[in-house]
Amino acid sequence: MSVRSAPGLPAPQPRPEGGCARLRDRIAVELARARARTTLLTEVVDDGELIRQHSPLMSPLVWDLAHVGNQEELWLVRDVGGREPVRCDIDELYDAFKQPRRDRPTLPLLPPAEARAYLGTVRDKVYDLLDAVAFTERPLVADGFAFGMIVQHEQQHDETMLATHQLRAGPAALHAPAPPEPSVRVGGEVLVPAGEFVMGTDTDPWALDNERPAHRVDLPAYAIDAAPVTNGQYAAFIDDGGYTDQRWWSPAGWEHRVRERLSAPMHWRRDGDGWSYRRFGRWARVRADEPVVHVCWYEAQAYAAWAGTRLPTEAEWEKAARWDPSTGRSRRYPWGDEEPTEAHANLDQRHLRPAPVGAYPAGASPLGVHQLIGDVWEWTSTPFGGHPGFAAFPYREYSEVFFGDDHRVLRGGSFGTDRSACRGTFRNWDYPIRRQIFSGFRCARDVRPDESYR
Ligand code: AVJ
Ligand code: FE
Repeated sequence: MSVRSAPGLPAPQPRPEGGCARLRDRIAVELARARARTTLLTEVVDDGELIRQHSPLMSPLVWDLAHVGNQEELWLVRDVGGREPVRCDIDELYDAFKQPRRDRPTLPLLPPAEARAYLGTVRDKVYDLLDAVAFTERPLVADGFAFGMIVQHEQQHDETMLATHQLRAGPAALHAPAPPEPSVRVGGEVLVPAGEFVMGTDTDPWALDNERPAHRVDLPAYAIDAAPVTNGQYAAFIDDGGYTDQRWWSPAGWEHRVRERLSAPMHWRRDGDGWSYRRFGRWARVRADEPVVHVCWYEAQAYAAWAGTRLPTEAEWEKAARWDPSTGRSRRYPWGDEEPTEAHANLDQRHLRPAPVGAYPAGASPLGVHQLIGDVWEWTSTPFGGHPGFAAFPYREYSEVFFGDDHRVLRGGSFGTDRSACRGTFRNWDYPIRRQIFSGFRCARDVRPDESYR
């Protein structure tokens, strides 16, 4: 919405209606894109599959569906629009804090047809109020924030529903073309010189509370992998007895590994002298050059210890992804400030798996770090917390209640993350035992101060 002027030219006149019309159009497009994805994920299976719980780790798909509509009603219809409730009898049912995932299938949930009708009614009211809303200075509506938040919320639940699809048994329901093949050779690590960079943002209008505020972080020199750890690298760790050698595991990680009998990433099984894995209802050979996915934080940490490295801190990940050494600025994405295109990153559920390393040269950071955005969420060593000066907005339950040592930060988004819910500052978090999410990692290590100038 900002009006920029080129040096030496008269400043353009602000055109508030023109700007607001563009913002309205963009919101309408993003709402429709999210809804198309929600519809796809919930129409490719029958009602029985929508109601069933495919894993105690996940909600029935029909819970996510109505929850998406309920959040949209709460924030847009009631709060922003000040309209009458569509249904105030179901708020409790779809409150994630009141209903633990494991109990959700036993709740008197809206049946699929009713849930769909509810989402439709809410959405009609939202389009209606979008026509009338004034994007005033009120923080909830400035730059269309609440609409952006709701778009991202729906897309986040769509990724969760995609993870439920990955866990469901039975024949494949989702189809997508293969990701692009590698076009460059990428490997080894990149040296990041010591110094300050700007972490977080004050200016990205749809950035969520935990991405704010922008602040300077000074880091010593470090090295970070140029690409996510691949299946081939990870299989070498398995073949070397990595899962049965306690040396590589943290005490909590070892205890978890033993109790859960972890011996390979989730969905993998032995296949001759290699591996296969089940993705979205089909068995495929594990490809050595694809980023490993479906590993928990404990597995990532053990791999890194075995490799003589460590996981990057969250700040190291973000500096590698955003810092431009030629200007000292932090970019919105590794490749610049422009929105992702198909050439930059494997996002948007366009492909149903991570792309092989080297498939996205146009998405590399200025320092030459590849595939930071898309493909797999990347575990960092950092517990989830607020940036210095953090203020919860608009509700504590989005981020703040999850701060603390229970959760680790993941960065960069996966093949199942929509571009509206992914950027260089975007922060995800989960328990260190989680592996049904599309999680992988890359490694980092300390370097001597002079090593970066070698
Ligand atoms: C940011 C992905 C951890 O799914 O639990 C959805 C996003 N918050 N509804 C989650 C979210 C509220 C959240 N994550
Ligand atoms: Fe939610």
